Amino acid sequence: MPDFKFWNERWLSNQIGFHMINPHSSLVEFIDLFSGHRKVFVPLCGKSPDLIFLRNHGLEVIGIEFSEIAIKDFIKENNLNMKKNENAEMNFYEGEGVKIFQGDIFKLSSKDLSGITCCYDRASMVAFNEEERIRYADLLINKAQDLKLILAPLFDYGDILDAGPPYSVTLQELNILYGKNFELLQLKTSDLSLKESKKSLGATYEREVTWKFTRKQTLALRIFKRLFSNIN
Ligand SMILES: C[S@@+](CC[C@H](N)C(=O)[O-])C[C@H]1O[C@@H](n2cnc3c(N)ncnc32)[C@H](O)[C@@H]1O
Repeated sequence: MPDFKFWNERWLSNQIGFHMINPHSSLVEFIDLFSGHRKVFVPLCGKSPDLIFLRNHGLEVIGIEFSEIAIKDFIKENNLNMKKNENAEMNFYEGEGVKIFQGDIFKLSSKDLSGITCCYDRASMVAFNEEERIRYADLLINKAQDLKLILAPLFDYGDILDAGPPYSVTLQELNILYGKNFELLQLKTSDLSLKESKKSLGATYEREVTWKFTRKQTLALRIFKRLFSNIN
């Protein structure tokens, strides 16, 4: 069960140190990866400026956020005209090229995620504990069936800890959770100064790694493509 009480309190007391004023540097640097895509998924979107950045690059943005405070702030701070839709399964706000579901990401259906071909994850996977990261991988792999590409700046401070958020996500874990379905590529690594809190738990390094995950083609698709290229 996600810790909604924790996140609710963070938003209520405005303890949102994770929130950035400007779009994330890795999103700005690697935005071209999304060219040719139409619908981008932004899980656990908060009120991130990344949403507007993606929208301004021509993408239809589909976010999900549990906190209604975050969604309302996002709309107000960006002066957007987004309407609330009361929906039996999950309410959502929509307008100006952005749709934000309000609720638990694990309640999204395959239908909600259909047509989404790319995903931008900033502070989403690292916000989940170990058990939630397994469920999240299942959602991206199996529920988001059209998903081909994920761009994700993640934190890595070793696998000795399960202290967070933000949680550490290592190459080994990514291989276990995603390796069968996605090719994993490290686009960029930045060393961060090791915080005392992490050091005292045994961490010896802290870095931000920006990942690109590309969905592996199934055998059936590979055969189809080969046949098709022979016809032409
Ligand atoms: C670390 S913040 C990141 C927000 C945003 N991605 C950013 O970069 O500013 C994680 C966000 O996820 C939301 N959240 C946590 N668990 C969730 C869940 N199970 N479903 C939907 N939202 C969730 C929290 O309310 C919080 O706003």
